Parts: sequence; C-alpha cells; structure tokens
Amino acid sequence: MARLVKLPGPLDPHVHLRDLDWEHKSTFLSETAAALAGGYWAVFDMPNTPPPAIDRPALDRKLESIARQAVCDWGVYFGASQDDNSGEYAAAFDPVCGLKIYNNATTGTLLIDDQTLRARHYAAWPGGKVIAVHAEGETVADILALVRQYRQPTHFCHISTAEEIRLLAAAKAEGLPVSVGVTPHHLFLTEDDVRTLGPLGRMKPELKTHADQQALWDAIAAGVVDVVESDHAPHTLAEKQSDAPPSGVPGLETTLPLMLTAVHERRLSLERVIDLVALNPQRIFGVAPGPETYTLVDLDARYTIARGDLRTACGWSPFEGMPVVGRVREVWIRGVQAFDGEAVRVAPGFGCNLYGRES
Ligand code: NCD
Ligand code: ZN
Ligand code: ZN
Repeated sequence: MARLVKLPGPLDPHVHLRDLDWEHKSTFLSETAAALAGGYWAVFDMPNTPPPAIDRPALDRKLESIARQAVCDWGVYFGASQDDNSGEYAAAFDPVCGLKIYNNATTGTLLIDDQTLRARHYAAWPGGKVIAVHAEGETVADILALVRQYRQPTHFCHISTAEEIRLLAAAKAEGLPVSVGVTPHHLFLTEDDVRTLGPLGRMKPELKTHADQQALWDAIAAGVVDVVESDHAPHTLAEKQSDAPPSGVPGLETTLPLMLTAVHERRLSLERVIDLVALNPQRIFGVAPGPETYTLVDLDARYTIARGDLRTACGWSPFEGMPVVGRVREVWIRGVQAFDGEAVRVAPGFGCNLYGRES
C-alpha cells in the first residue's frame, strides 16, 4: 500500500551547509541536494562556517556562492561576534533570515559568554527578524532575561533537557516572544547511544537522559515545542574518527522519515508533524511557500537508514541501521519538480533566497 500525502513546504531553519573555507566537509550544492532528498523546500544556513558571516564582505561571499549552487530555497543567518559587530547590522539586515548568537562553546569561533555584550547585540538588532540562540543549561535563563528586557522574538535552538523545557514553558506562559526547537537526535537517541556510536554520537548539546528525552516528547504534545530542526552539521568521517572529533551530526535526510515513523507508531499525529516541520517554522520566520510548493511522502514505505543512500557529502548518519516507515517521494518548488524520489531535477542556482532583494 502507498498512502501519499502532501506536506506544505517543509522548512528546516537550522542547518550548517559549510562550503566556503570548509568545502572539504560539504558544499552548498551537496547539502541543498541532501535537503531536497530529505523532503525540504527550504533551509536556513548558520553563520559559524569560516569565514563566519559577521561582516558584509563575508556575508556577500556566502550569498554569492549559495545563490550559484543551491537547488532548494534558502536563507542565511548573520552572526553576532565577540568584538561587537552590531554596527554591521543595518547593512546586513536586508538579505538575511535572522541573527544567530552562540552563547555556549560549540563548533566555530562565535562564542559570546559575556551578558553585557549579549545585551548590546539584543539592543542593536533591528526588530522584525528572529534572533536564534544556541543556549544550553543555565544560559537559557540568561537569554530569557534579555528577551524580557528587549522583547526581540527569539528562537531557542536544539533544546535538550527537561529543565530547559520547564523554563521555556514558563516563558511562554509569561507571554515572552520565544519559540522552541528540538532535534531528531535528542528525540530518538540518548546518552546510552554514545556507547555504541562513539564520536558519531557527539554533538552540542550532548545527548541526554531518557527522562530528558521524554520531556521533549511531552513538550511536543503540550505545544511547548514549535519546531523540529535537524541541526544538520556535517563533519567528515575522518574528522569524527580523529583524536579530536568535532561536535555535530548530519540530519537533513533523516528528520522527516524519523518523524513519520513516530506518526506510524502513534507517538504524535501527522498534523502535529506538519506544524513542527513546515507551518510553525514558516510562521516564526515570516515566510510562506509559493503556490505549487509541497513535498509528497509515502506514509507506508519502509526502509532502513543506510550510509550508501545518503547524499550529504559527509556520507554517514548517527541513525544508520534504524528501520523507518515513511519515505520522501517528490519535492515540488514553485511548480517545478525539484526531486523525484531518486534524483535532483533542477540545476544549481534554482534555489532562491527567501529574504531581501535576492528573492
Ligand atoms: C554545530 C556545527 O558543527 O556547526 N555543531 C553541533 O554540535 N551542533 C554547531 C551548533 O549547532 O552548535
Ligand atoms: Zn548550536
Ligand atoms: Zn547548529
């Protein structure tokens, strides 16, 4: 049996496509192709790839390169820097999807751990586009204090613990303009899996306990979680198996199949998945898919996630060997069939920036 359903413009607002000085990990072409194979209409690229997108020349280099290569629609974040680049915001605002602030150590050089400097960035960012934050543990409360003071709409990326969920549920009840993202790795893996995955199970935030994982599923059911985002963060297998493995795992091609498997297992409804992967990210980031932009998935197709089937240039997945129920069959963008279930059908450069003049 094949039950085909249409998803209205799946959007992943948290991916690291790399390219630029990290072309050896992946390129805008390879990872936007992976996004199509994963069923996505559009992806929003993070600013932590060298050279970080923290000034107009670096941003322009990224915009020019991604515009030439992308096969799905896209947005890019501007990054906040430790040496206070808030003077750049006016010139950078138009073509970007939002601002990213890294408040805990992770891949790249963009850490801001000083609350006064964070406040300066919150004060300076022009209103109307989301501030996305990497904030873990106690840092979540620090950022909530800034949201309370500056009222800037803030998306909390990759939330992973019961305590963080408790704080964010309270912030929502208080009426603060916050949204909450969780990743498939925190929903489907726990700290126990690090034993078998080794460095392939290492990412920021780290995998957590079963109780934390359950809190994320409960928060999905309660409507506290708004978005399932992949945090697609490809690193080469050689890098991951080195003495100093970097943090991050790919996820663009496994997020929808895993979420559809959860629907099959009646852990949540298909409608809720559509909210989490399409309608909520569209609303939060203020974009809408044009006419004839949708993804066809087969709710009954079964397969096992396998290395050889992946398009991401890193060529591995922390979910290898997992059986899934639910397969991406076609992606249509602006009336064009961009992916047919086997191959990408559009040329590099087909993808559009969803923001600013380039759109
Ligand atoms: C991300 C990366 O590799 O760019 N790594 C990760 O472990 N999630 C950065 C990030 O999202 O924090
Ligand atoms: Zn992060
Ligand atoms: Zn990330």
